[in-house]
Amino acid sequence: MRTFSIVKPDAVAAGNTGAILQSLEAAGFRLVALRLVRMTKAEAEGFYGVHRERPFFSSLTDFMSSGPAVVVALERDDAIRELRRLMGATNPADAAPGTVRARFASSIERNAIHGSDSPESAAFELGYFFPGVELG
Ligand code: PPS
Repeated sequence: MRTFSIVKPDAVAAGNTGAILQSLEAAGFRLVALRLVRMTKAEAEGFYGVHRERPFFSSLTDFMSSGPAVVVALERDDAIRELRRLMGATNPADAAPGTVRARFASSIERNAIHGSDSPESAAFELGYFFPGVELG
């Protein structure tokens, strides 16, 4: 089963891309596709379209288009749930020790990593950045 992840601009700028990808691989995820992207504001708005009405939408899409990010397609058993567990809570203050956000996030917005939260969002998000790659 496949899921989709982003190493967010805060983590790329801080030089944490390698450490984050290493923790994913150490947890049994295989890299299926990977690309460094500089999202436009419009691309970030399209990606986060389901959150359009949330109060943080403008700030979040500004942040996500503020610098390079690494988009990744990942494969392992129970990939969606396992990635969310490895990421830790959205707010790093609540993230369990050892999770990616506990280690690398600095705020609820600058929280280092994104992971699809359902099979439906994984399908949308994989197709958004990797059109033509099999969803598996
Ligand atoms: S989730 O996974 O959908 O339940 O998480 P949720 O809390 O709904 O957040 C959805 C995405 O919005 C980001 N987020 C925020 N950004 C900026 N400011 C605030 N206050 C904030 N709260 C949530 C959160 O990091 C999620 O981004 P992704 O990229 O999906 O992880």
